[in-house]
Amino acid sequence: MAMQRVAAAAALLACLAMAASPVRGRNITAILDGYKEYKLYNKYLSETKVCDEINSRQSTSMTILVLSNDAMTTLASDAGDSLPAIKNALRLHSVLDYYDRKKVKKYGDESAATLYQATGDAASTTGNVKVVDQEDKNYAFSAATPGARLCTVTKEVETHPFKFAILEVTAPIEFDGLFDTPATSNLTRLLERAGCKVFASLAARTGVLKTYEDAMDKGLTLFAPNDDAFQAKDAPDVKTMSTANLTRLLQYNALPSYNTKTSLKFVKGTLRTMASTKAGKDGVTVVAKGDDVSLDTGKARSRVADTVVDSVPFSLLTLDSLLVPPELYVGAPEAPAPEPSPAETPASQPADAPSVAADHAADHKTKKPSSAIASRPIGALAAAACSVVLASLLL
Ligand SMILES: *[C@@H]1O[C@H](CO)[C@@H](O)[C@H](O)[C@H]1NC(C)=O
Ligand SMILES: *[C@@H]1O[C@H](CO)[C@@H](O)[C@H](O)[C@H]1NC(C)=O
Ligand SMILES: *[C@@H]1O[C@H](CO)[C@@H](O)[C@H](O)[C@H]1NC(C)=O
Repeated sequence: MAMQRVAAAAALLACLAMAASPVRGRNITAILDGYKEYKLYNKYLSETKVCDEINSRQSTSMTILVLSNDAMTTLASDAGDSLPAIKNALRLHSVLDYYDRKKVKKYGDESAATLYQATGDAASTTGNVKVVDQEDKNYAFSAATPGARLCTVTKEVETHPFKFAILEVTAPIEFDGLFDTPATSNLTRLLERAGCKVFASLAARTGVLKTYEDAMDKGLTLFAPNDDAFQAKDAPDVKTMSTANLTRLLQYNALPSYNTKTSLKFVKGTLRTMASTKAGKDGVTVVAKGDDVSLDTGKARSRVADTVVDSVPFSLLTLDSLLVPPELYVGAPEAPAPEPSPAETPASQPADAPSVAADHAADHKTKKPSSAIASRPIGALAAAACSVVLASLLL
């Protein structure tokens, strides 16, 4: 019994750790700050926000393949100095498993997934890397394509067995197609294809579309409400709204800075929107729970649904509901929605329950946007698991 209690207490602690904010433990930027030979690599990790992807996976074993300043310069030039292309490469260098010399010498050649595969559009194993045991003490990494160049590990910078390693490799790992990036030249088309036709036409009519387009190469996070969002009960009537108010509403759905769904989880305090005044009025705050990210206006919350395009320094994310500046909000002030327990989840939605990958666009299209229940399975499941553990602890 005592043993059981200890085990239950340990499980409870693990549960609490899981439910807590993602901003804990290792911080790749802070670690690499200690090595000036990886300064350039670290700079690109921050600019592309790949650092946030790495930091958000505290419980995943990872190996970061770093490049010296010289090798990083080569990579940037191979990528045509395009940040979205460099981002692809940095994701490929973030391996989702732990490696060090001892492990490779013991187990030999392997194939491992990377962040590129986990978060990019890469088909199946294109985004894998191979780990290759070499002569003597050497071992190397390469792209998964046949005949790919072997990039030997020159230094084990940091190793925390089976959790986290930073290894320096001689040269960047690359393959044909690694630097391909999504076309972003026609924002209207991107919006229409993402199911945000109403938003696109309002942006065109008011001229805010031009404001968005001008910001795309300087830093822009565009939150596009889907077409259903305009039909919601508490949505303002955009047909009767003055152009000035509509313009403000549209500017409010955009940030003049580059963010991703993952990086938003790490934001503290108020984010400036394009409608923000110098005094900081009309900002939004982020509420993150597990993989769920919502924006809070002070009057209502909008859930970030899908990433349509991530092309540093521009990202396009869809929203399940319109972000309305507090002064234009007309909906009845709602009490914060109670978190329904998994037991309340309609049996007709079994596919949603373990949907960790709710991020995928295809997934979204088949999903009713009003389904708040479908949107937050992880937090509720974790909470349910925790209460079960807690109950067993109290028995
Ligand atoms: C990580 O470290 C960097 C540099 O020290 C710091 O600016 C950043 O805020 C840290 N990130 C988190 C999530 O704590
Ligand atoms: C952009 O896409 C829209 C919608 O598909 C289309 O009507 C428009 O002609 C395109 N604009 C350009 C400049 O290609
Ligand atoms: C904008 O909306 C506010 C709040 O509903 C309203 O008081 C104001 O008159 C509107 N402004 C214009 C120019 O219509």
